[in-house]
Amino acid sequence: ALERTLSIIKPDAVAKNVVGEIYARFEKAGLKVVAAKMKHLSRKEAEGFYAVHRERPFFNALVEFMISGPVMIQVLQGENAVLKNRELMGATNPKEAAKGTIRADFAESIDANAVHGSDAAETAANEIAYFFATTEVFPR
Ligand code: CMP
Repeated sequence: ALERTLSIIKPDAVAKNVVGEIYARFEKAGLKVVAAKMKHLSRKEAEGFYAVHRERPFFNALVEFMISGPVMIQVLQGENAVLKNRELMGATNPKEAAKGTIRADFAESIDANAVHGSDAAETAANEIAYFFATTEVFPR
């Protein structure tokens, strides 16, 4: 099915200057950028976005990392966009990520893991709405 998913290029990858290389991977896989913004998240925004992880031991480190610098946030659209993006990203822990995936190629650690992607279609709708007004996703 034609889907949309939320993608975040995290502070480590933005600092490494690989936004374009990561966008090229999305595009070559048939995913279209239909919304995008660069943003330096506030602590409140990062905590709200990752609210499902609030009780996890890594929550504070995750929030600190996500507010350590600007991120690129985009909506990707395409056939099976949620799964396709997860395949492009590779495993959460870059040490376990398959060769040729974004995390294998650009990430350093499970915390600084270059990208985030929605894990399911329902999550994607919520995550997209968290960062984008309907008027900011194209075509409107
Ligand atoms: P992300 O897809 O953005 O969702 C939550 C993030 O928490 C995850 O990527 C990792 O960067 C980070 N994280 C740190 N430790 C863990 C862990 N043990 N399990 C899952 N995610 C972790």
